[in-house]
Amino acid sequence: LSRKKGLVSLAVKSLKTLGVEERRILGQQLNQLKNQVENSLSGRKSTLLEQEQKGKFETEGVDVTLPGHAFPSAGIHPLRRVWREMEEISVRMGFTIVSGPEIESDYYNFEALNIPKGHPARDDQDTLFLSDNLLLRTHTSPVQIRTMEKQKPPIRIVVPGRVYRRDAVDATHTPMFHQVEGLVVGEEISLADMKGTLQVFLRALFSHDTRVRLRPSYFPFVEPGAELDISCIFCSGRGCRVCKNSGWIEILGAGMVHPRIFERVGYDPNRYTGFAWGMGIDRIALLKYQVNDLRLFFENDIRFIRQF
Ligand code: PHE
Repeated sequence: LSRKKGLVSLAVKSLKTLGVEERRILGQQLNQLKNQVENSLSGRKSTLLEQEQKGKFETEGVDVTLPGHAFPSAGIHPLRRVWREMEEISVRMGFTIVSGPEIESDYYNFEALNIPKGHPARDDQDTLFLSDNLLLRTHTSPVQIRTMEKQKPPIRIVVPGRVYRRDAVDATHTPMFHQVEGLVVGEEISLADMKGTLQVFLRALFSHDTRVRLRPSYFPFVEPGAELDISCIFCSGRGCRVCKNSGWIEILGAGMVHPRIFERVGYDPNRYTGFAWGMGIDRIALLKYQVNDLRLFFENDIRFIRQF
């Protein structure tokens, strides 16, 4: 079809040498032929384009029906959440957050806290010993001693940390768990200050209408010692399955610092008084989030952690 050398074009040019009638017939036929060639060329072109397009879809195409690549995200671990919340409340109340070693000496974990060798209180805390003298701390109370050795009163500290006991693992026991210790020392600090402080703290942690009550108890490093119950956070004290129909839930151990402890760290027990408490973070997380098995906190199943 090309204008200069195409066969059809040449034939069209030679038409003028023919007679009128012949020219008319051949002219028509040449036109038809030209149309035919043009049609089949453009038909072929679009088939080729279509094929090219299809090939691209197959090799470069995106299947929008395939599942996407999910970015794995978890959440703040429930234990860390409670830990931080307790720290925040304590700081608002004027406490300083301190920490101490998880590997302790017998002295700080026991002796200095009025728990000499052979004392029955040692049996309550199945200790993981590393050597005759070194152990994994069974509570955060040794940090009371370490702090008082270094600082003079007034003292207002809170100590969150890991503690260890040789317990068999079940729904309510793990060999490592978490405690928060509190210690206040100053002049004219009373048991009423202890109850008021803990009430403010626990109301911030649980609910503004949480009630507290003290029951006499025994810890060698406090006198008097107490256990503190809060009104059940699920039934507000009416009685339910969680509080075993008592309306109360035991939440921590506390008491006035024993004068012998003050003597040991060089404080004048006639001048200074104070109170201390210790509570379990894990147990509180169980309660707050209504989890029924402590082991879930330590398995790190992302489906569990993602819920918090
Ligand atoms: N250390 C005690 C325990 O682990 C708790 C406690 C702390 C009790 C401070 C009284 C005062 O059982």
